Amino acid sequence: MRIHHLAAFLTAAALAFPHHQDTPRFFPRADLMTVGVYYYPEQWPEGEWERDFKNIGALGFGFVHMAEFSWAFLEPREGVFDFAWLDRAVGLAAGNNLKVILGTPTPGPPAWLAEKHPQIFLQDGRYQSREHGIRANTSTSEPTFRRYAERLVEAMGRHYGKDTRVWGWQIDNEPGAAFDFGPSAQTRFRQWLERKYGTIGRLNEVWGTAFWSVRYDAFGQIRIPNAAPAGEDRLNPHALLDHKRWNADETADFLDLQAKTLRRFSAPGQWITTNYVSAVNEADPRRTRGLDFPSFTMYVVRGSAGLGPDGFRLGAPYRLAWANDFFRPIAGMTGVMELQPGQVNWTRTNSQPMPGAVRMWLWHGFAGGLSYACTYRYRHVPYGSEQYHDGIVGLDGVTPSSGGLQFKQVIGEMKLLRTRFDPTLPIPARYQARKAALLWNHENLWDLEEQKQTVQWDTRRHVEKYFAALKSCGAPVDIIGESARLADYRVVAAPAYQLTDAGLIASWKTYVENGGHLVLSCRTGQKDRAGRMWTGRFSAPLVSLIGADIDFYDMMPEDGDGRIALKGEPDAFPWNNWADVLLPHAGTEAWATYANQFYAGKAAVVSRKLGRGTVTYIGVDTEDGRLENKVIRRVFREAGIAVESYPDGVFVEWRDGFWVGVNYSSTPYNLPIAAGAEILIGDRKLDPADVCVWIDRMKDSR
Ligand code: GAL
Repeated sequence: MRIHHLAAFLTAAALAFPHHQDTPRFFPRADLMTVGVYYYPEQWPEGEWERDFKNIGALGFGFVHMAEFSWAFLEPREGVFDFAWLDRAVGLAAGNNLKVILGTPTPGPPAWLAEKHPQIFLQDGRYQSREHGIRANTSTSEPTFRRYAERLVEAMGRHYGKDTRVWGWQIDNEPGAAFDFGPSAQTRFRQWLERKYGTIGRLNEVWGTAFWSVRYDAFGQIRIPNAAPAGEDRLNPHALLDHKRWNADETADFLDLQAKTLRRFSAPGQWITTNYVSAVNEADPRRTRGLDFPSFTMYVVRGSAGLGPDGFRLGAPYRLAWANDFFRPIAGMTGVMELQPGQVNWTRTNSQPMPGAVRMWLWHGFAGGLSYACTYRYRHVPYGSEQYHDGIVGLDGVTPSSGGLQFKQVIGEMKLLRTRFDPTLPIPARYQARKAALLWNHENLWDLEEQKQTVQWDTRRHVEKYFAALKSCGAPVDIIGESARLADYRVVAAPAYQLTDAGLIASWKTYVENGGHLVLSCRTGQKDRAGRMWTGRFSAPLVSLIGADIDFYDMMPEDGDGRIALKGEPDAFPWNNWADVLLPHAGTEAWATYANQFYAGKAAVVSRKLGRGTVTYIGVDTEDGRLENKVIRRVFREAGIAVESYPDGVFVEWRDGFWVGVNYSSTPYNLPIAAGAEILIGDRKLDPADVCVWIDRMKDSR
C-alpha cells in the first residue's frame, strides 16, 4: 500500500476492520504486486496435477487459489472429511514455490446435504425454493445450513490453520448477490428490526405506516418487502431501505461467522478475506468485522460499455479504477481475486478483449495500489457452465492463451520493477496536493434506486461522473465512508448523498471551515437516515451549508432538451435527468445557469466561501458529465491546487515510486512525461490498451 495512505486509514479502518493492522506484514511493500491464479484440482485427473503446478510456477505465478467450490470433495459424506487430495495439491503447489489461498466452499453445498435438508435453499420473490444443481443458492440465514457451513469451515481451519504453506483464506464466493424471502430470512429480518426499533410503535413512526394503513401491531406481522406478492412495486421506501441494510448485515454476519471459526484455528500469519463483486451491489464490504481486508472480482469487458469504437474490447474505463479506490481504503490494502483472463461466457456479448487489454488491467490494478492480482482460472474447462470461458492455458491444458501470455509478461515486468523499488522515495508533492475523496454510502444507492423519479436517473452513473472528473484531474482518489478523516483531503465530493443527519452536515461544515473544498450534487441531503424527507424547506439542513435554497427540481422526457450555460458557453451542456433550480443567498455565486425552459436564467450550480474553504453545489445531472468536470476543475483552480488534464479513459497514478499510465480510450495519447524521467516500460505515446511505467526523481523531488 502507499505510505501516504497509512495514517489516514489507521483511524478510519481501525473502527471497522479490527484485524487490518496486520496487513502490511502479509504483503511487504517491496513485493509490489504478487500475481496468482485459480486452480481446481478436483476438476482434473490427478496424473496431470504435477505438470500443471510446474507450469504455473514456470509462468512465474506466485500463488494458487484452490478449494473454492469443493465441498462435495472435502466432505463427500456427512461428517466425513477428506483432505488427502487437497493435501497432495497443496504439497505440489509448495514444491513449485507457490503460496496457497484456500477458499471456503460454502457457495456449493453437496447433494447429500440438499437431499437431507432441502430447507437450506433460499426462496425467491415468488417463494419458490432454489434447489441443488448450481451454486450460490443457499439461505445464509437458515440455521441448519449455517451449522453445516460452520462445521466444514472448522474442519478446514483445524486441518490447514497452522499450515505455513497456506498464505490466506477467501471466504465463500462473491457473497451477497440474491435476496432470500424464505422463513429463516423473514425471522432474522424481524429480529433485526426489533433490535433496531425496540417497539413496534417506534417502527410504525419511522416507517410512516400511517400511509396506506400499513401500520403493524407486532413485529411478527412484518414481511420482507416484496413487490411480487404485493402486486405493486411502490413498496414502503423505509421498509425497503431497512431490508437492504439487514440483507447487507446478514451477508456480513455469514462471512464473520466463518472468519471467527477460522480464527479459532488459523495461525496469525494467515490472512482472511472474501471476494466481493466489484460493482456496488447489495453486499456492503464495509460491514464485515472479521476479515483482514476485503478483495474483489473484476471482469472489465462486458459487451457494450467503453470509449470509442474499440471501447467494447478495452472495457468500461471506470470499473477497475473505482474498485481500486473503493476497496483499498477500507482496510488500508486490497487485491483483485479474479481478474478477467480473456474472453468470458456470461456477458451480453462475449467479445475478445483487445490484445494487450489484460496486461493493461493488471498494470491498472498495480497503479491503483493492489497488493496482489489473481485470475480465474488456470485451465480452460471443456465441460460445465463455463466452457466458453478462457483460462491462462487453453483446452490442451498446456498452451498459454493470449491472456496467459499477458499475465506472464506482467509477472516478468513486475520482477524488473522490484529491482528498481526504492522505499525512500516520497510521494510526489504535486500529486499529494490534489488528493481527493469521494464520499460513498451504499445506503444512498439503495434508497435512490427505489425512487428514481425518472427512468433516466442512474445513481452509479451519476457518481461516476464525479469520480471521472477527479481522475481526469490526476487526483489520487480514496472512496471513503463517513468515519474517514475528511481533513486528509483537499477536495471532497459527495455526489447524490441523499441520506444525511445533523452530525454529518456539521462535519462537512467543519471540514470546509478548516479549509476543505466540498462538492455536493443534486439529491444530496433530501432525506434523513430513515429515508424520510425533512420537514420545512426542501433539503432543509443543506440550505445554510450551500448558501442557497432549492426552489424546485425538474426532469425532462427522454428526448427533452435541457441546456445549461456557463460563462462564455451559453448553451453548451445538455441535461435530461435531474435539475435543482437554485436560489442563491447573498454571498453565494452562481457558476452556471439554466439556458432554457421556463426557469431560464436561474442558477444550476452555486459556490460559496465558508471559513477557509468552499462549498460548491451542482444541482444538475448532465448527459455527458462535461459540466461536472469543468466545475470540479474550477474548484481546484480557485483553491490554488494544480491539476492535470487527462482525457477520458487515460489514468495516471503514482505508486511506490513509479508513475503508471494506462489508456482505455480508442485514441493514442501522449503522456506529459518530463524530459529527465526514466521510462522503464512502454513509451510516452500511449496507444489504446497500452501501459507506460516511469520514474521521475527530478520532478518528484520538487
Ligand atoms: C465470477 C465468479 C467465478 C466465475 C467467474 C467467471 O463472477 O466468481 O466463480 O464464475 O465469474 O467469469
